Amino acid sequence: MPGSRITALGHYQPAKVLTNDDLAGMVDTSDEWIRQRTGIVTRRIAESESVTDLAAAAAGKALASSGLAPDEIDMVVVATCSAMDRCPSIATQVAGRLGVPAAVGFDVNNGCAGFCTALATADHAIRAGAARHALVIGAERMTDVTDWTDRSTCVLLGDGAGAAVLSRDPAGGGVGPVVWGSDPTRGHAVRLDDGWQPRFRQEGQTVFRWATTALVPIAEEACRRAGITPAELGAVVTHQANLRIVEAITRRLGADRAVVARDVVDSGNTSAASVPLALAKLVERGEASSGAPALLLGFGGGLSWAGQVVTCP
Ligand code: ACO
Repeated sequence: MPGSRITALGHYQPAKVLTNDDLAGMVDTSDEWIRQRTGIVTRRIAESESVTDLAAAAAGKALASSGLAPDEIDMVVVATCSAMDRCPSIATQVAGRLGVPAAVGFDVNNGCAGFCTALATADHAIRAGAARHALVIGAERMTDVTDWTDRSTCVLLGDGAGAAVLSRDPAGGGVGPVVWGSDPTRGHAVRLDDGWQPRFRQEGQTVFRWATTALVPIAEEACRRAGITPAELGAVVTHQANLRIVEAITRRLGADRAVVARDVVDSGNTSAASVPLALAKLVERGEASSGAPALLLGFGGGLSWAGQVVTCP
């Protein structure tokens, strides 16, 4: 059955690095606490770049690497929860920057599950014949929604973007069936509060317990629907919220042969950008080989999840 395939990836992060020691000078924390509880060592901070700048930089690299001309892209989707722009969408702004002339463009807000949700949406559009080539982007300036006086959250977040070019694949199978959903009864556990000046808040332990238990069957189901077992995965790219969560999910899944994305160590939690950012880096470094099946799994605000197995470009 025809489907879609990721043919190229790109990523972009701002130059400024914020270390744990820098944060220890701002709030009552320490490098030791942050490393032990989260695995995070550094994160990138956007000083001048907007969400559109971050998204366009990552998408421009993916587009260049795909070899497609801008006018061949007929869908642009940006997953973001931190963008302040409501209209025009980040997606149409990115299309304008890249010279994509007439694509449908829209933003998706599904928290940290946003990129996998956007990827599934674009895959479905391509399967339905509504698009041939799509740019799917995750981009965040989480530092805009960070409360720099709250040590329980400000040590976690970072900025960045990752992007994928998705193209029609007559043979199908490059993007597996999505497993997605939400548990709104626990929606209060991750929030962007305070109206027009939102700040990221979460009940860390509630989310930690949920992420390390409820998500494993979802990951297993994504593999089952793709027709493989977790042991056959070549790569695991979960949302990069906490290294302990990444390792717990991978261990319980039994993805023993897979290379595991640990980009949270360098980049912190970049919400909807974390999955494409981590995937693009794994592929760029040759750690995830071309043709390898990779599990993508986004989760967070909602509480929401979305995951699928993709073939690495
Ligand atoms: N430095 C030092 N101490 C701190 C810090 C800090 N930065 N932050 C909290 N503490 C203290 C707390 O005050 C508490 O002190 P107390 O025992 O005296 O009350 C103690 O450390 C333990 O706090 P916990 O919140 O219980 O720490 P925990 O081990 O749960 O780690 C963390 C917190 C890292 C947030 C963890 O719960 C976590 O990662 N949760 C999941 C987050 C997640 O997956 N989010 C995904 C969705 S949201 C998104 O991605 C955008």
